[in-house]
Amino acid sequence: MIGLLDRLARPFLRALDPEDAHGVAIKMLKFAPLPPAPRDDKRLALRVFGLNFPNPVGIAAGFDKNAEVPDALLRLGFGFVEVGTITPLPQPGNPRPRLFRLDADHGVINRLGFNSQGADAALKRLVARAAAGGIVGINVGANKDSADRVADYVQLIERFAAVASYVTVNISSPNTPGLRNLQQASVLDDLLARVVDARERVAPNAGPTPVLLKIAPDLSLSDLDDVVGIARSRRVDGMIVGNTTVARPPSLLETEIAKEAGGLSGRPLFPLANRMLAETYVRVEDVFPLIGAGGIDSGATALAKIRAGASLVQVYSGLVFSGLGLIAAIKNALLEALGDDGQDSLKEFIGADAAAVTAEPWPK
Ligand SMILES: Cc1cc2nc3c(=O)[nH]c(=O)nc-3n(C[C@H](O)[C@H](O)[C@H](O)COP(=O)(O)O)c2cc1C
Repeated sequence: MIGLLDRLARPFLRALDPEDAHGVAIKMLKFAPLPPAPRDDKRLALRVFGLNFPNPVGIAAGFDKNAEVPDALLRLGFGFVEVGTITPLPQPGNPRPRLFRLDADHGVINRLGFNSQGADAALKRLVARAAAGGIVGINVGANKDSADRVADYVQLIERFAAVASYVTVNISSPNTPGLRNLQQASVLDDLLARVVDARERVAPNAGPTPVLLKIAPDLSLSDLDDVVGIARSRRVDGMIVGNTTVARPPSLLETEIAKEAGGLSGRPLFPLANRMLAETYVRVEDVFPLIGAGGIDSGATALAKIRAGASLVQVYSGLVFSGLGLIAAIKNALLEALGDDGQDSLKEFIGADAAAVTAEPWPK
């Protein structure tokens, strides 16, 4: 059923403007009569952040920004879904066009700028599906015109903790001017102190809610030292490495589209994202787990992320080029890798190559 839907829809979606195609995909997921999620092989199950993941393959933030289709996405076979980024108030984002496909590179550039229906709309949907189960993380961000961005994050944690499997503090979108400055040490320390404090305040009613920090792959290594140090001292539960990059690798073939402003994702992001993941892993010293995102488009690249230090992985752009079959392809490849190694858990792969990856020349 999913394969059929995918085969029918893809040529049609590829012919549309990328943002229109995304809107159609959300509508299809809303109304398609999807069968329940396939049962995953037990060897793919992992316990991370105190949550039981049926498999380690998630869909990254930005696909379901307004929490319209988390349950349909779980039915497609994702082990977890991250909705958002959700901002407190509705905002339109940047003018269109703001989403571009780099077909020859299997890359995407977006400068959406947190287009969001706002917290009220998303919260209503998440409350309505709260009993449905499945791991649904909620990615939160500040409004562009907010007078107090830290207060935006605090407010969103307070409001969403009860319906979130985890909350991601997104301070790494390149498309909200100044947002990434929240990664600077002095600001970040205050932000995380207040966010974790908000989480503790609502815990008696909301239960324990892991707080994750999503970072940009463009941080310098000395900035990364600071960010990891603060994340550890403020006791966040994990990090996502990472968001889109403002860099443009010289290898890009679509040189004209590459000039568009925004964050680059997909295959050309993989080398940088994987390096930053490994660099983060060696600094975190197993104090908390990591989610790896950026350029996963095959079983091999997903396994490489795990070997570089990810306990879980997230995909987005890879779906645009490989379709929904990517989910099963990754799971099958992971199972095969387990078989080859005679292992019965993915745990032994996590970080196995981190030191080696950090010793390579810096990716171009
Ligand atoms: C169209 C688009 C929109 C995105 N929107 C968000 C967002 O709202 N919040 C966020 O944290 N990341 C967002 N991202 C980043 C993804 O979550 C992910 O970190 C990044 O794309 C790298 O993964 P990929 O190479 O598999 O796409 C977006 C990415 C794309 C392509």
